[in-house]
Amino acid sequence: MIRNALTPSNPHELLPELPDALARFAHGVEFPDPLEAPALRWGIIGAGGIARTFARDVPRYTRAEIVAVASRDLGRASAFAREMGIPMAFGSYEELVEDPNVDAVYVATINTLHAEHALLALNAGKPVLVEKPFTMDSVQAETVLNQASRSRVFAMEAMWTRHLPQSRVIRQVIANGDLGCIVSVQADHGQSLLDVPRLARPELGGGALMDLGIYPVSFLHEALGRPASVHAVARLNSDGIDLGDAITVQTDRALGVARCTMDGRSATSAEIVFECGALELPLQFYRPGVLRLRTFEEGAPDDGATVEWDATLPGGFQYEAAEVARRLAVGATESPDMTWQDTWEVMRVMDRIRADAGIVFPWE
Ligand SMILES: NC(=O)c1ccc[n+]([C@@H]2O[C@H](COP(=O)([O-])OP(=O)(O)OC[C@H]3O[C@@H](n4cnc5c(N)ncnc54)[C@H](OP(=O)(O)O)[C@@H]3O)[C@@H](O)[C@H]2O)c1
Repeated sequence: MIRNALTPSNPHELLPELPDALARFAHGVEFPDPLEAPALRWGIIGAGGIARTFARDVPRYTRAEIVAVASRDLGRASAFAREMGIPMAFGSYEELVEDPNVDAVYVATINTLHAEHALLALNAGKPVLVEKPFTMDSVQAETVLNQASRSRVFAMEAMWTRHLPQSRVIRQVIANGDLGCIVSVQADHGQSLLDVPRLARPELGGGALMDLGIYPVSFLHEALGRPASVHAVARLNSDGIDLGDAITVQTDRALGVARCTMDGRSATSAEIVFECGALELPLQFYRPGVLRLRTFEEGAPDDGATVEWDATLPGGFQYEAAEVARRLAVGATESPDMTWQDTWEVMRVMDRIRADAGIVFPWE
């Protein structure tokens, strides 16, 4: 293994063994080490909050480097580059995507600009990782993904949760099927974010659903696939911003419930209920954390057995960045862990939630 010189230890090595009971249901699961993914030179579009987290964690916990950052303002890009030790700063996004030193582009701009900036990268032939939500709606998502397909260039939504070790276990348990069918799923994401200006502005794609609700909606989709029906209600403020949403989805044999709010913190838990047990992420389900398995023996007098696997690790973005590097190394244009179809279907669900709940953006 090649270690990043700045990395005192590899957090992935802190990942504990799966407890036997969980290993039994997740047999076949693999946990690729982000530090073993091929090296990659990233360029970042947008010098904001989440770009800072990416620029800190990806070089620290993978073999990737951040070689350039671009802002609408050269001074801001230069300050960001100085702060994060990035060698190149650009005062326009266009210059960054043309830089031959950049192997892949991370789009970290506001929600409303994801489609435009993903297309900018793709049209320059650059693989692209696009912050969530991938776009503002499924029509934009289709435009971006069609372009990726036409130009045969990699594109992926930065739904980082899907690449975490706990998500690999969940997908494997579902695929193995030893807990029976899924009958119900719930996930919630409530944060106090009223002080984040862009979230309060409809013209910047604000609101709880687009920034927070996308996580539980994507979680439901990962467990249940494409729903047959979607219903939602929203609490709207006088500007038309959804402060909170309650969502139900239905498939042929399961129900899913998702909640989000931007004016109050919730447990941010998630649970998948199978016929013979349940998987639970009790806190901050979207980041590296605890995964619990509860199993129910038929006819047993008690509540069954619970085992817990603590996959709490530093960082988190290293897993999605490593996935991009691995896929590019084999010439893939998408990841099986967050496919184009997944992204498009999630955006379709988001469209339906907004239509049902009356969340309308100023340009619609
Ligand atoms: N994965 C996660 O955990 C996570 C967490 C938070 C947010 N996000 C997502 O990441 C994206 C960025 O969120 P953030 O919290 O980093 O936001 P932020 O701090 O406001 O940064 C957004 C960046 O967008 C750029 N931008 C371009 N045009 C803009 C405009 N007209 N108005 C405002 N900004 C503009 C700005 O970069 P320049 O001025 O430098 O050009 C700004 O720094 C969002 O899509 C959000 O949903 C993801």
